[in-house]
Amino acid sequence: MADNYLEKRYEAVFGGGRKDDPATKERARRAAGVETLMRRNRSYREYDTSYEVKRAELEAMVRMNRYLASGRNAQTLRFRLLTKDSGSDKLQGLYKLGRALPELNLPRKGAEPQAFIVVCSTVPMEKGQWIDLGISCQGMLLKAAEMGLQGVIIRNFVPAQVRAALDLPLEPVCLIAVGKGLEKIELVDISAGEDFNYYRRDGVHYVPKLRLEDLLI
Ligand SMILES: Cc1cc2nc3c(=O)[nH]c(=O)nc-3n(C[C@H](O)[C@H](O)[C@H](O)COP(=O)(O)O)c2cc1C
Repeated sequence: MADNYLEKRYEAVFGGGRKDDPATKERARRAAGVETLMRRNRSYREYDTSYEVKRAELEAMVRMNRYLASGRNAQTLRFRLLTKDSGSDKLQGLYKLGRALPELNLPRKGAEPQAFIVVCSTVPMEKGQWIDLGISCQGMLLKAAEMGLQGVIIRNFVPAQVRAALDLPLEPVCLIAVGKGLEKIELVDISAGEDFNYYRRDGVHYVPKLRLEDLLI
């Protein structure tokens, strides 16, 4: 099936609205196919703090784990949800964003994410669990993209600090920030050997990605 098949089909059946009409935009967003969601699913590091992510939105993301592959189907990941109302401020200062952009000192004051999913593990992390973690993060972030939210996977934190600050019964292995992202982000084609680092230029955050030819061996 061609990319965007469902979106095009949706447009054909229900379309007709002006492209800039909010209702048309909302219909298009909901009808997005997997490839569109994947392209939209970028790592955002600055957020609109006036937007309050609801607990139900985080629950919708965590629900995706019920449909995901898991090594030996062991399902060892557990999730603590943090919104503005349930202590997300306790995480501020305990994680770092944008290792490749040290001059920006992210998260920028006044643009910090206000909601998080803290991913924990019931067992010590081994190869299988790390793979499960990646699948889980991707699944949850795709759901966020479908809901019109953005996020970022965060591993740059000290687990013991986060565990203590949130009084967690399990070791945290990953944070996912969720919110309304502010950056304008664009993908850039690169070939193997070129610089992989993301960068910002004239207000745009560029993310280099290998071309298909460079992924194939
Ligand atoms: C395992 C993993 C850990 C990451 N940890 C961080 C982090 O601690 N801080 C951060 O700003 N971004 C983090 N990221 C986001 C990556 O930097 C991002 O995926 C990469 O720059 C490519 O951008 P994209 O997600 O928009 O494609 C992490 C991503 C992954 C998959």
